Order: sequence, then structure tokens, then C-alpha cells
Amino acid sequence: MPDPIAFGTWKLPPDDETARVILAACQAGYRRFDTAYAYTNEPFVGDGLKQSGIAREQLFISGKLWNSKRQFAAAQKACRKSLKNLQIEFFDQFLLHWPASPAVHTNWRDITAEAWRALEKLKEDGVVRTIGVCNFKVHHLEALMDMAQIAPEINQIELHPGWLPQKEIDFCNKHGIQIEAWSPLGNGLLLNNPELQQIAQAHSKTPAQVCLRWCMQHNVIPITKTTHPDHMKSNLKIDDFCLTNTEMQCIDAMPVCAFSGLDPDTITQFG
Ligand SMILES: NC(=O)c1ccc[n+]([C@@H]2O[C@H](COP(=O)([O-])OP(=O)(O)OC[C@H]3O[C@@H](n4cnc5c(N)ncnc54)[C@H](OP(=O)(O)O)[C@@H]3O)[C@@H](O)[C@H]2O)c1
Repeated sequence: MPDPIAFGTWKLPPDDETARVILAACQAGYRRFDTAYAYTNEPFVGDGLKQSGIAREQLFISGKLWNSKRQFAAAQKACRKSLKNLQIEFFDQFLLHWPASPAVHTNWRDITAEAWRALEKLKEDGVVRTIGVCNFKVHHLEALMDMAQIAPEINQIELHPGWLPQKEIDFCNKHGIQIEAWSPLGNGLLLNNPELQQIAQAHSKTPAQVCLRWCMQHNVIPITKTTHPDHMKSNLKIDDFCLTNTEMQCIDAMPVCAFSGLDPDTITQFG
């Protein structure tokens, strides 16, 4: 049974402040951590985890292959470099950060396929325990699964009230792919939403707790990030209330809001 919530590390600075945040998150009770080479803070995340004194087997650490490292040899090297940065021997989970963008590459399928073969080899070699993807829409998943020896176990996508990618949820549920939600609080933009505030009030909870509980009731693992110890603790307290069907449907039906604007098919800046 995976932890119901992961702790995110995007936008944490590449300095000792990050080690302090990660240590505080460990002390608050987080054991599942989402990291990425692209966040430029892996060594400091590693320091915080080390300072916590928590045994490696009790932690679940996820990493990501950045887009400039999709060639087979480069990917092998990049994964090992991330492990070294984090001062660990293996990843519990290692993900492709983005599919190659169809807006940039006509051969996006081949590029993603080469990166996936590298992840399969890393798994075979025992360097990573599970492999998956981020930001894959259904057609990216179909293309990957056509060539894959090992099917992806995770798809980490943007998902929050005001952004519910139903096609991806249905596809992943059908194929046994666990969804993780990035920006489950809409990167903090959802916390003043009147509908969420009203539902939160009815349960004596915060809007953040409602967003995270809504993910959980959709069988999605939210990855949330905060630098405040009181938010760290309260964000974990989501197993003592239940959203009603009506509340779930009301949140599901919220109009688009807090969307990052990052569409994996059209972004060009990530390649
Ligand atoms: N795979 C991908 O492409 C991808 C993309 C984006 C993100 N991610 C991952 O997903 C993680 C989460 O995304 P995110 O950082 O946008 O997460 P988020 O949890 O939706 O938003 C984080 C923001 O919410 C605030 N916050 C958190 N809890 C709060 C609370 N209880 N009350 C008030 N404010 C609160 C934080 O501010 P304070 O720090 O001030 O509390 C922060 O500004 C990232 O850190 C990263 O690990 C992955």
C-alpha cells in the first residue's frame, strides 16, 4: 500500500534551506518524496533525508530523467548522477519527466522509446525498482506501450480541482497505472476558491485538505509541497473525514482553474 501523499521538491532552492525543509517534512511524517534532476536541488534534498536518520527502506524516493538526457547512454549516466546527488543507492521509482514533444520532434515516438529502453535497463540492473512517466496523455502512453517490454507503473500528471484529465484517468485505471497528481493545490492558487472553502468549512477542514482528500478518493496520490511545518502536518491529516458523493461531483464539475498551461503536446520549451 503506497503512502497516500508524497512530498514535492519543485521550487525548493539549491541550498541548505532545502535540507531544513526536507528534514521538517520527515519529522512531520512524510516518507514518500518526489525529486527531479531539473529541480537543481537533489544534493540538498539528499542532505535533509540523511539528517532525518530514517532508514532508507522506510523512505520512498522518486526521481526523474530530464529531457536532454533521453539517449540510452546519457539516460543511464543521468540516473546514476541523480542517485549520487541524493546520496542513495537506488530509486524506488524513476520517471520520464516529459514525453518528447510532438511540437518539436516529428520522431517524438522514437525519442521517447529510446529513453524508455534506458529505464527498462536501469530496472533490470536493480538501480531503480519501478519505472513510469510524467505528463503522458493517452496517445503518448499508447505509443510507449506498443514498444515497451515493461509497462509504465506510474503516470504523474497535473491534476487538481479545476483540472481533471478524465481520459488519462480512465486509461490509467484500465491498464493498472497508478496516477500521481502534481500541483494538487493548483500550486496554491486554489486555496481561496469559494466552493472549496465552503466544503472545507462543512468538515472543519482546510481547502488544502479538501483538495488532497479529493485526490485520494479518486485513487490518486497527491504530491504536495510546502515550506511551512504547520502546513506539512495539516496536509497529512486527510484520513479522518470523507467527501460525500455530492461534494466529489461538485468538485469534479468545477470549471477550469489554476491550470499551469503546460500541454505536453504543444510545449516547445522543454523539447
Ligand atoms: N512531473 C512534473 O512535470 C511536475 C510538475 C510540477 C510539479 N511536480 C511535482 O509536484 C509537486 C507539487 O506541485 P506544487 O509544488 O505545484 O504543489 P501544490 O501543493 O499544488 O502547491 C504548492 C504551493 O501551495 C502552498 N501550500 C501547500 N500547502 C498549503 C497549505 N496547507 N496552506 C496554504 N498553502 C499551502 C505552498 O506554499 P508554502 O510553501 O508557502 O506553504 C506552495 O506555494 C512539486 O513540488 C513537484 O515535486 C511535478
